Amino acid sequence: MKLLTISGSARRDSVNTALLLALKDVAPEGVEISVFHRLDTLPVFSPDLEGQQTPAEVLEFLTLVSGCEGLIIASPEYVRAIPGGLKNAIDWMVSRFEVIGKPIALAHASHRGDDMLGSLRLVLSTVSDRFLDDVFLRIPLIGKTPQEIKNILKLPEWQSEMSGFLLAFVATVHSQQTCGHGSHAVSNVS
Ligand SMILES: Cc1cc2nc3c(=O)[nH]c(=O)nc-3n(C[C@H](O)[C@H](O)[C@H](O)COP(=O)(O)O)c2cc1C
Repeated sequence: MKLLTISGSARRDSVNTALLLALKDVAPEGVEISVFHRLDTLPVFSPDLEGQQTPAEVLEFLTLVSGCEGLIIASPEYVRAIPGGLKNAIDWMVSRFEVIGKPIALAHASHRGDDMLGSLRLVLSTVSDRFLDDVFLRIPLIGKTPQEIKNILKLPEWQSEMSGFLLAFVATVHSQQTCGHGSHAVSNVS
């Protein structure tokens, strides 16, 4: 099973990206996790650039989305809202097929940011009918250095939180595929 994780931060030492990278190390057997942390490479969305005009960087990103069986997003809060880069990426997906039927869960690397989380939950449950509100991982890492983050995430309690989160997500993706939701997504492509 391929999972794509998306960091809402393009910052080099992003705590959200660090959390997503750490998930790779605890991936259950048979689960391959990739991390996309360059939302800053996507041009600003405009309906004038949809269809044949869609920029190559956007098409590359959308290929990653369509190639995965589930999405995990981890994002900082900027000014009590969704960072522009992440909202921009979501805007690119709205009128296309890639995100349809795709299970999505949130991870979050901060004890703060509930305004952003509320807004992101609303947006994601609007663009996807498979947004999993009850599968959520929260590990407070704000203000920590990359080395401190590595040490924290190696602690057994956080290893167990991360594994439990991934197992719950993978189980839900599997059960939805069994129920035929996966083929629902494919039928939207053709
Ligand atoms: C422009 C800007 C606005 C921010 N606004 C908020 C905010 O509204 N609430 C909050 O909890 N943190 C806010 N922060 C702090 C970030 O959430 C924090 O720096 C976090 O570590 C960024 O995530 P990252 O490490 O993944 O880049 C803001 C940071 C920046 C740069």
